[in-house]
Amino acid sequence: MADSLNIRKAEKKDVPELFRIEQRCFDAESFSRRQINYLVSRSKGEFLVLTENDNIAGFLILLQRRNSPGVRIYSLAVSPNYRGKQYAKQLVLKADQVVKYLSKRFLHLEVSEANFSAIQLYRKLGFQITGKRGRYYKDGSDAWLMRLGVNPSKLS
Ligand SMILES: CC(C)(COP(=O)(O)OP(=O)(O)OC[C@H]1O[C@@H](n2cnc3c(N)ncnc32)[C@H](O)[C@@H]1OP(=O)(O)O)[C@@H](O)C(=O)NCCC(=O)NCCS
Repeated sequence: MADSLNIRKAEKKDVPELFRIEQRCFDAESFSRRQINYLVSRSKGEFLVLTENDNIAGFLILLQRRNSPGVRIYSLAVSPNYRGKQYAKQLVLKADQVVKYLSKRFLHLEVSEANFSAIQLYRKLGFQITGKRGRYYKDGSDAWLMRLGVNPSKLS
């Protein structure tokens, strides 16, 4: 039988599993359990999870400021055992819908210059590099600033 996929809002009961995925995906840069709890319950934004057969395969955190024209992808992760199945792409497509729903103009994010797979993902979806932040991460790597304008043709 085909896998059943769903994207929904994260709930408090998801926090232990989200923390496990976070640790597996981000090592030294990972959020604490407390930070995840805060982001799920109180942050101004959207914390979305993608589930496969009701198991959390990945998540996406979006942040928005009232006066900002863009929505920020604050974090995106897919658990190692679920990678290569277009799940990250589906989460970014969802983010694009949120941008439109909120009448914002673009998605933006920071990504480590060393994060080849993420850069490939964002490039494939049409993101463009708009700047750089020197020594942004704990390991000393620079961050690239990337942006995707609302343009459905690039995301089909
Ligand atoms: C980056 C990450 C989210 C990708 O998740 P994923 O679900 O495996 O990605 P998808 O299957 O949706 O890939 C979509 C496209 O992204 C690119 N891509 C994803 N992983 C890639 C890899 N390891 N190498 C090269 N390209 C890759 C490809 O273009 C791919 O399309 P294709 O399969 O048709 O070639 C995942 O590897 C991850 O969680 N990494 C650790 C956390 C992280 O770095 N998050 C991003 C922070 S900015």
